[in-house]
Amino acid sequence: MRKELILNNDPKSIISESIRTLRTNLQFSSVDKKIKSILVTSSIPSEGKSFVSANLAIAFAQTGSKVLLVDCDIRKGRQHYVFGYRSKLGLSNLLLEDVALEHSKYIQPTEIENLSVLFRGVVPPNPSELLNSEKNKELVSILKDEYDIIIFDSAPVNGLTDSLIMSSLVDGVVIVSSLKTTPVNLLEETKKSLENVNANIIGVIVNRVDNKSKKYYGHYYGESN
Ligand SMILES: Nc1ncnc2c1ncn2[C@@H]1O[C@H](COP(=O)(O)OP(=O)(O)OP(=O)(O)O)[C@@H](O)[C@H]1O
Ligand SMILES: [Mg+2]
Repeated sequence: MRKELILNNDPKSIISESIRTLRTNLQFSSVDKKIKSILVTSSIPSEGKSFVSANLAIAFAQTGSKVLLVDCDIRKGRQHYVFGYRSKLGLSNLLLEDVALEHSKYIQPTEIENLSVLFRGVVPPNPSELLNSEKNKELVSILKDEYDIIIFDSAPVNGLTDSLIMSSLVDGVVIVSSLKTTPVNLLEETKKSLENVNANIIGVIVNRVDNKSKKYYGHYYGESN
């Protein structure tokens, strides 16, 4: 298993503590409706979506919940590398099949108790079309019935419709933002784009790297509205 799965490999580190705090905040983020499915997105590439998604999924699995991590970044998703799997099959392939009958064939168990993953799959020519399909809607609804918590690792919002499409299928969206590299106006635009499609933004994670100590920190800000 790769070293990025820090919640498993270094549970006492500062970032592991931050991810557990994020989990707790998400558990409390909605009083009326339990948040069971969470989309992790960001404005631009490389802000830490995949890192946060994988570790957040482990954090939930460690509480005993049945957790599924879905790599719905079917253009550039890399969760199969993060978890050290070689199989090329995943979500994009499943969406060409009968999702009700075939979905469990594509979901991989992991070495982490309570955590399964649906990897990206072969990169298709039409990612947005696949995500926008009725089959994808059907799949998400089946998965919601089968798992306690589903974390969706997605593509960045800027210039793509993929995350906006996915945001309408989940209970809540968290935006990962790397303060050092993301211009604030881009973060604002991302928030607006998500709000325009009525996404339920439940928080912003400020993910940043302290170059001096080479330590990583993550902070969570809940949405006040
Ligand atoms: N808080 C963190 N602690 C340690 N490493 C991190 C942290 N955040 C990100 N990284 C590392 O930074 C790199 C980029 O992060 P990641 O792949 O998660 O970004 P991404 O937003 O998913 O990118 P993409 O848009 O390409 O999907 C990875 O190597 C990841 O392990
Ligand atoms: Mg990613």
